[in-house]
Amino acid sequence: MSDILAHTEDGICTLTFNRVDKKNSITAAMYAALADALQAAQDDAAVRCVVFQGHETVFSAGNDIGDFLNQPPATTESPVFRFLRGIAQFPKPLIAAVCGPAVGIGTTLLLHCDLVYAGDNAAFSMPFVNLGLCPEAASSLLVPQMMGYHRAAEALLLGEPFMAEAALEVGLVNRVLPPSEAANYAQAVARKLAAKPISALVETKRLLKKGQTAQVLAQMDEEGQSFGRMLREPAAREAFGAFMERRKPDFSKL
Ligand code: COA
Repeated sequence: MSDILAHTEDGICTLTFNRVDKKNSITAAMYAALADALQAAQDDAAVRCVVFQGHETVFSAGNDIGDFLNQPPATTESPVFRFLRGIAQFPKPLIAAVCGPAVGIGTTLLLHCDLVYAGDNAAFSMPFVNLGLCPEAASSLLVPQMMGYHRAAEALLLGEPFMAEAALEVGLVNRVLPPSEAANYAQAVARKLAAKPISALVETKRLLKKGQTAQVLAQMDEEGQSFGRMLREPAAREAFGAFMERRKPDFSKL
């Protein structure tokens, strides 16, 4: 079974992270599958909206750390960057149902979704600094815009998880539900959207985002350059090695 499931029915394209044994961490192959599925959903006139979902116990543990160690993204055409540009520019509504941990890109991809529904077990975190890295997905621009500078600095400098109710308060999620209901609720909202005129949905989203997309892409590009360099530096190598060896990282000499 594929690690990304893509299913289209009644105008709704549902993309499911399906690698639960590895906490839905995302490999380069999975980013490529996601980027291709988004492009197909964009091109298919029958698709009205896209839903991202994981499992009731975990949305995504973020980038696969083994991949970070062994095949870090090398160019701006790497699958992760294709995926990020895809969600930042996707013209139709993007919805997410999030339960359990949403780490790194598991949280930052939500900044590009239009509607987010969370299980009350959702735990969001952006632990880039703890991994010797910097923010990605334009989170260094969008997180302070969304929650204000000081809360953004707390989330991005400390990298500690915050729960669904806190995410609701800062505007990252639209509604908190029991975990068993989040995916169904997101599908019900998707059905409502799919019944609306697509031209009006697309034009409304374009106007909502107008003026910001260029800035978002520029920030993603600058972050991507730093992130790509930092992946190969000693702090990140120590953090990844520590994760693989299940020990605490030692940054005292770095
Ligand atoms: N990359 C690769 N493998 C990962 C992973 C990741 N990001 N996150 C989890 N896994 C794997 C673990 O290595 C483990 O594999 P194993 O069973 O072969 O040993 C399995 O998934 C289960 O993970 P585990 O840590 O035991 O689950 P948990 O319930 O105790 O914790 C998390 C869940 C998500 C809190 C924890 O796995 C975690 O913090 N992961 C790393 C998140 C991260 O830093 N991501 C990068 C962000 S940029």
